[in-house]
Amino acid sequence: MPLIIGVPKENCAGERRVAIVPSAVKSLARLGAELVVESGAGTEAGFPDELYTQAGARISNDRDEIFRDAEVIVLVRAAAANPEHGAADLGRLRERQFLIAQCDPLSDPAGMSALAERKAAVFALELVPRITRAQSMDVLSSMATIAGYKAVLLAASVLPQLFPMLMTAAGTLKPARVFIVGAGVAGLQAIATAKRLGGVVNAYDVRPAVKEQVESLGGRFVEMELDTAEGEGGYAREMDEEFYRKQRELMLKVVAESDVVITTAAIPGKQAPILVTEEMVRAMPPGSVIVDLAAERGGNCELTKAGETCREHGVTILGPENLPSTVPKHASQMYSNNVVSLLKLLIKDGKVVLDLSDEVITGTLLTRGGDLVHPFVRELAGLGPYEPTPVKPSPDEVVSLDDSSSDTYRISDGN
Ligand code: NAI
Repeated sequence: MPLIIGVPKENCAGERRVAIVPSAVKSLARLGAELVVESGAGTEAGFPDELYTQAGARISNDRDEIFRDAEVIVLVRAAAANPEHGAADLGRLRERQFLIAQCDPLSDPAGMSALAERKAAVFALELVPRITRAQSMDVLSSMATIAGYKAVLLAASVLPQLFPMLMTAAGTLKPARVFIVGAGVAGLQAIATAKRLGGVVNAYDVRPAVKEQVESLGGRFVEMELDTAEGEGGYAREMDEEFYRKQRELMLKVVAESDVVITTAAIPGKQAPILVTEEMVRAMPPGSVIVDLAAERGGNCELTKAGETCREHGVTILGPENLPSTVPKHASQMYSNNVVSLLKLLIKDGKVVLDLSDEVITGTLLTRGGDLVHPFVRELAGLGPYEPTPVKPSPDEVVSLDDSSSDTYRISDGN
């Protein structure tokens, strides 16, 4: 019997992506897995049911049946990442089932205990460690790439002027001045996109390591006399209010001279820092635009309203949420590739094998056997370090202890 991977239709309002695209069916078959997709799951992303059946997947009209039959469920949004309907799906999760999805564990760490109670092994894709080996599984990076690109297009469509410098018979048009705050994945893609459109791009990040990357994309790195804030795993460290106060002071001039400001500054598990104040907005040229990609995390601009566009002091401020869903075809393709890379790590000879000596697996695994197991999420939830309860294997499980490490054990056919 092949391993069954189920893809239910996304049911979070406004979500147009699908977790696995038809072109992945072949790779999954090579792993010994069969794909069952809920009817219509890919339609919004440009993948109608016929494309799945042509590729060799099965279509089902019954969500309950998919949850009942599949050993592995893959979704774009589950648990806290699907506030409206996530709970209903949790009720469908079975003991020893695997769920791979974005679960937004950092926004509701304590709420993840309810997810753990289902006794399924849940992989929260937001937790994929930012290490080279896991790059192909990193959905935050792939989705941020799309968000950075789309943020520039949104700005360009609202800005009352063009991006490129044009020398025409009707006169010379000055190029748009674009300032990108936070040059992580979204920020770097925003720089590249704004350059392609012909803007003059400045960028700033608290991590000095990105200066070279900004310059290689044709942007100018804004130097500020601030301490650096390099944290762990390629992320920035949270700084104190005095740091942010000084940063805002130093940024005022650049913001005041920009036609477009795109903010992407994020600290995992924390509210986004306020980097653009009302005073700075007031100083911007009339008609200028701010796109605040950190809107979902409280926003980098004081005046941002998440999910809305507002106009303050003559400046249009956009706080878009879920931009990847506005480019559902490519977003689904990238998401699906990320998931297939993780599945390749998990599936051995048609069975899911949890190698708990692998930092990519332990770094992404949120719950297992009834427990919340992820150290950082446990810390945020105010729980002590995880002490595993000894797993009693069922008769059909194979458990092998690797002598080289007491932490290493492999369980087939279960979790
Ligand atoms: P990332 O962690 O790769 O980049 C964030 C960057 O901000 C880092 O380089 C970090 O050093 C920098 N940063 C942190 N504090 C800063 C400060 N005080 N000043 C300047 N830079 C600072 O994150 P990624 O993946 O690029 O995501 C960026 C943001 O975009 C996040 O807030 C994420 O939630 C958001 N996002 C929004 C989407 C939407 O649809 N609205 C979709 C995808 C991502």
